Amino acid sequence: MQRDICRILSNHKVTGNIYKMVIESRIISKKALPGQFIHIKPGDGYDPLLRRPISICDLDADNSQVTLLYRVCGKGTRLFTHTKTGDFLDVLGPLGNGFPIFHSKRVAIIGGGIGIAPLLYLSKELIEAEVYLGFRDETYMIEDFMKYSDNISIYTEDGSKGNKGYPIEALERNIRSYDVVYACGPKIMLRAVKNLCEENHIECYISMEERMGCGIGACLVCACESSSNEEYKKVCTDGPVFNSKEVNLDD
Ligand code: FES
Repeated sequence: MQRDICRILSNHKVTGNIYKMVIESRIISKKALPGQFIHIKPGDGYDPLLRRPISICDLDADNSQVTLLYRVCGKGTRLFTHTKTGDFLDVLGPLGNGFPIFHSKRVAIIGGGIGIAPLLYLSKELIEAEVYLGFRDETYMIEDFMKYSDNISIYTEDGSKGNKGYPIEALERNIRSYDVVYACGPKIMLRAVKNLCEENHIECYISMEERMGCGIGACLVCACESSSNEEYKKVCTDGPVFNSKEVNLDD
């Protein structure tokens, strides 16, 4: 983990409260693995005090570029939207563990909402993944996923784009076609994917989203329950990617 002061190359709204930012970082673009995240200081002062964890969405190592997709959900991320090309961000990273990559297995990726962010870089690394994406209404980043996969299924809750419903429905129909499933999105979706995979004895890796404080394993703000119920896992350092069997997602 390193600290880097990164120049913003672009920052714009994609749709609704979803924004895409590209920053310049030689260190992160060369080292980061799919599923890792960076921890960004929002603003120059002490309010808000805590950094915000943002998934790495894509990388261009040749040009030292790191693409981030973020959802505005509070004061810190609102401040990100005020930054513009040429400004600088104080960044820690890359942090966390990342997804294991299996090139010789049949793999599926399933994402929901802003949870699709770390799955773009993953689909690029996996090369032949089948991708299931779910959105409430507006879709985004579909063209980016199409660069890395020929097999993408789109779902929206209201049916305004792609299929009406949830991507888990399609994954359920095809689950026997896969050796490994990767997932990131709302907890209710992760729980359904975990249960589906475990019932069918399919290896499953999920990326967890939790509130974070330090981002480096020191504060326990990000603790989540392990499947043994006897200990907690730190999402920032034990994760954010876990084998589904390691964590308890029940309410
Ligand atoms: Fe501090 Fe994970 S955010 S231990």
